[in-house]
Amino acid sequence: MTETLKNTRVLVIGGSSGIGLATATAAAQAGASVTIASRSRDKLDAAVARIGGEARAVMLDTRDLEAVERFFAEEQAWDHVVVSAAQTPGGPVHSLAITDARTAMDSKFWGAYHVARAAKIREAGSLTFISGFLSVRPSATSVLQGAINAALEALARGLALELAPVRVNAVSPGLIATPLWSGLPEEKREAMFAGAAQRLPARRVGQAGDIANAVLFLATTPFATGSTVRVDGGGAIA
Ligand SMILES: NC(=O)c1ccc[n+]([C@@H]2O[C@H](COP(=O)([O-])OP(=O)(O)OC[C@H]3O[C@@H](n4cnc5c(N)ncnc54)[C@H](OP(=O)(O)O)[C@@H]3O)[C@@H](O)[C@H]2O)c1
Repeated sequence: MTETLKNTRVLVIGGSSGIGLATATAAAQAGASVTIASRSRDKLDAAVARIGGEARAVMLDTRDLEAVERFFAEEQAWDHVVVSAAQTPGGPVHSLAITDARTAMDSKFWGAYHVARAAKIREAGSLTFISGFLSVRPSATSVLQGAINAALEALARGLALELAPVRVNAVSPGLIATPLWSGLPEEKREAMFAGAAQRLPARRVGQAGDIANAVLFLATTPFATGSTVRVDGGGAIA
């Protein structure tokens, strides 16, 4: 049995781009009242225009615990909260500056932790983190990213006990074509996507909507908690 998202209040933090934007759009299409949150007013305005309907936008930086607490204190309880927010410098452990490594952890792990600590979610509602398949399939050049993703997945499993009956899950994407990769020169980016499509059992690069599907599956499935759903085109087994 699945629940409907009709008339539910759904918050997508990191909803102004990529996976978060696709999730917010899909939730709005399924009848939810959607709020997106992120740091940049411009990105939020553009995203709200794309989602359409009654979508609402809030400026919020998940690294700022006080701001996160203030935000949730002023809002009614949510039915579903999704944390897709992160900006993580990466590179080999031996060459990535330690300040950048801490920045990555602050953004992706501690940001999600702050939200989990402050969020008011109704009974049987859900909290979903976006981790990443590097948690189980490490890359020699992205070791920290894998460790952060593994920490997030463990956080979701533990919180599923602590916050019960609120359900807590993680979705772990493989390589997804989103603005996260817009910093790469176009040629390099397209070569990376093409290489992945050739290598992966799914024979394609992931799209943000593939991950949004999994997030909404977890949000609307009352028996799903403590789960990590990997959607990686087979990247972890290839
Ligand atoms: N794309 C991939 O290949 C891939 C693969 C595995 C895992 N993931 C994970 O999936 C998640 C989403 O990635 P994406 O590809 O959708 O990236 P994206 O397109 O860059 O979107 C990231 C979103 O997070 C927001 N954000 C960043 N830092 C924030 C902060 N401190 N507080 C609030 N909002 C913040 C950004 O908006 P503002 O700039 O306005 O804050 C943006 O809306 C990330 O955790 C990423 O690591 C992605």
